[in-house]
Amino acid sequence: MRVCLLTGGGDCPGLNAVIYAAVKKGINRYGDEFIGFLNGWRGVLDNNFIPLTLENTDGIQLRGGTILHSSRTNVKKVPGGIDKVREVLAANKIDALIALGGDDTQSVTQFLCENGVHGVGVPKTIDNDISGTDATFGYDTAVMIATEAVDRIRTTADSHNRVVVIEVMGRDAGWIAYAAGIAGGAHVVLVPEKEIDIDHVCALLKYNYDHGTHYALVVVAEGCQLPEVGQVTDTAQVDSFGHVRLSGIAEALADLIEKKTGYETRSVNLGHTQRGGVPTAYDRLLGQRYGLRAIDMVHEQKWGRIAVLRGTDITDIPIKDAIAANRRLDQRFFDVIADLEAKV
Ligand code: F6P
Repeated sequence: MRVCLLTGGGDCPGLNAVIYAAVKKGINRYGDEFIGFLNGWRGVLDNNFIPLTLENTDGIQLRGGTILHSSRTNVKKVPGGIDKVREVLAANKIDALIALGGDDTQSVTQFLCENGVHGVGVPKTIDNDISGTDATFGYDTAVMIATEAVDRIRTTADSHNRVVVIEVMGRDAGWIAYAAGIAGGAHVVLVPEKEIDIDHVCALLKYNYDHGTHYALVVVAEGCQLPEVGQVTDTAQVDSFGHVRLSGIAEALADLIEKKTGYETRSVNLGHTQRGGVPTAYDRLLGQRYGLRAIDMVHEQKWGRIAVLRGTDITDIPIKDAIAANRRLDQRFFDVIADLEAKV
């Protein structure tokens, strides 16, 4: 078969591992040929691609980012987009498409499959919030980076008797904040699933200062809502999927905390450091397992389905189920956060 791959949306450590494994198994086991469209769906619309071979994918599972580059292109919003995609796929004699991406990218895959394109999906996001899968590659790397940052910030917060508010990614769900906050021993962990109770936050901080710990660490997910303000954004613009660019809640929260408590409070936004650099061994392995499943799905003609991790098994589900809603933290995780907070 002639198979094409593309990576859409925010990049994510482990994308190259998926590409590596799909290409390797596809060529060695099935005798497939591969091309990779560049810059996500934009590359399909522009007919911009590179061949993917055993040679040019060798060793890429170690690399962060995506060798295919990415964009947030919404084919559904491009006039004539669907026809253009079909035309480009036909011109390149493509039998099947493997789209690596989060819910936005997969909403396009789903739309194309409903319109006769033979496609399968691989779930991607450091936010770990895609339904139907227990883990997305990139999340483990992001948590490791964020936890290391919390560890590093702890020593300076301690030395200077400061509160430091650390902003991590997590647009709709607080998986990174939860994991890095708990692993890093933050005194306050704030996730988008729960409203911020600023009085409770200040009481937790006061506990530290009253009980001999003259500093505190607060981990907050970018998607949290600040009381009376809502989500904090750094521009009024939205992307082609209608998402605002979240950034700045740590700074705004730090100002509020300093005003309310009088403690010197600083903020750090970890931003894209969480998406950068080499994937952890776990993400390289998970990415490769997803890639192997994706090329098998192509040969099983599982169009409109997406590879998922269930427990320790890789299987697949309909894309529409994976993108119906975000997978968010529930009471079990709120209990862990609450049980590790000071008793105030
Ligand atoms: O979806 C993953 C994510 O990292 C979100 O946490 C974040 O809001 C968004 O991507 C940022 O995307 P961009 O790099 O396009 O600003």
